Amino acid sequence: MTYYLCCMENLSIPSAHLPKMERYQQLARSLSALLAGETDFTANTANAAALIFHAFDFHWVGFYWVKDNELVLGAFQGPVACTRIAFGKGVCGKAWESGKVILVPDVNDFPGHIACSAISQSELVIPIFNKEKVVGVLDIDSAYLNDFDAEDEKGMQSLVNVLTQHVG
Ligand code: SME
Repeated sequence: MTYYLCCMENLSIPSAHLPKMERYQQLARSLSALLAGETDFTANTANAAALIFHAFDFHWVGFYWVKDNELVLGAFQGPVACTRIAFGKGVCGKAWESGKVILVPDVNDFPGHIACSAISQSELVIPIFNKEKVVGVLDIDSAYLNDFDAEDEKGMQSLVNVLTQHVG
């Protein structure tokens, strides 16, 4: 699928028929093109959430950012979500606390999972670092059980790497 935007030539959304890692590689290139020349934090994180959301069939894609010792909701695509998450709480708070990617095949089996939406069945959270400190997380929710694997972990991490190069 190709989107035509006001200010860009075109933007490819990888075909769902491609192998997953190829889709992530194409998506990383699209994200890089989308963010090129722009440093505004809100603009870039909003476009990153939109691009990832529309490239896959996920229920929710968005960011939480560390502010005053809490995670606060940032740019996202999907249904309305919890606004604040405490350190160590839920999947997002645990990813912040541990600084590690957390892949949850079944949210019902994750103690303390915060159900912003009853539709979410599995979840992937990628911590975002600035100078070795977690400054936020990318959170992806799926309506399906076991919807994430090691390739999604690696692929989403590569997208976060592209983003962090553009938001400073
Ligand atoms: N499920 C998350 C909360 C955020 S929403 O999924 C958007 C958690 O347990 O941290």
